[in-house]
Amino acid sequence: MTILLQVEGLTKKFGGLTALSDVTFDLPEGQIMGLIGPNGAGKTTLFNVVNGVYPATKGKVIFKGKDVTNVKTYEMAQLGLARTHQIVKPLNELSVLDNVIVGACFGRQGFGLGKATPIAEEVLEFVDLADRSDQLASSLNIAQKKRLEMARALAAQPHLILMDEVLAGLNQSEITEMVETVRKIRDQGITIIMIEHVMEAVMKVSDHMIVLNFGAQIAEGTPEVIQSNPAVIEAYLGDPKLAQKLMQKAME
Ligand SMILES: Nc1ncnc2c1ncn2[C@@H]1O[C@H](COP(=O)(O)OP(=O)(O)O)[C@@H](O)[C@H]1O
Ligand SMILES: [Mg+2]
Repeated sequence: MTILLQVEGLTKKFGGLTALSDVTFDLPEGQIMGLIGPNGAGKTTLFNVVNGVYPATKGKVIFKGKDVTNVKTYEMAQLGLARTHQIVKPLNELSVLDNVIVGACFGRQGFGLGKATPIAEEVLEFVDLADRSDQLASSLNIAQKKRLEMARALAAQPHLILMDEVLAGLNQSEITEMVETVRKIRDQGITIIMIEHVMEAVMKVSDHMIVLNFGAQIAEGTPEVIQSNPAVIEAYLGDPKLAQKLMQKAME
């Protein structure tokens, strides 16, 4: 089993606030890792630090065996890391196709339209948006915008995709379709970390899960293990005193 991503003792402070505290895990190639935790737990921050948006306060990120701690976002893209954003921000004035072409070119020097266009078309087919290629991105509904965000990430032909709440705001049938797309991406050999609040969906699709609370890793394991973990249940029930205790315990 090849380890694609190693996160070691990763800590991120914003002034006095510890958004990530000593987070450590190995992500095997080809797996879907579910990343859950209450609002403000540090999930998006973990993506931002792994992806080079924010420098780490402490700790290491190792991707494909190479220390990439604090490497810039576009260099991470070159190395094969892509992400989708919790708040989708397509280039509204561009067509759907052009948005994906931009995604294909990100982080790749000398990658012209000739190479980018067929990749973008193929990816739009893959996420079921091909029939909307010529529309302005601004005209898409939320589910379509989430698919576009996915297409932009896929167009960079990554080995690892960080997905931030791709199911948020979708209705039940859109969630089912998107989960199917996530599986299809994994079946192509792309490794995935998926931040998700839709518990049923993330439990169904994840090979392995990590739970964050107040920046600390309070649980890790298969969905079955996570589901019955009292620390996780308490974190979601929102008892701050107990959560505090668990956080301290997790950090011992
Ligand atoms: N750029 C930033 N500056 C200051 N505080 C931040 C910044 N980004 C995130 N935070 C804080 O870090 C904590 C974790 O946020 P975030 O990672 O967005 O949580 P999640 O994605 O789990 O909901 C929150 O308390 C948030 O307010
Ligand atoms: Mg978030």
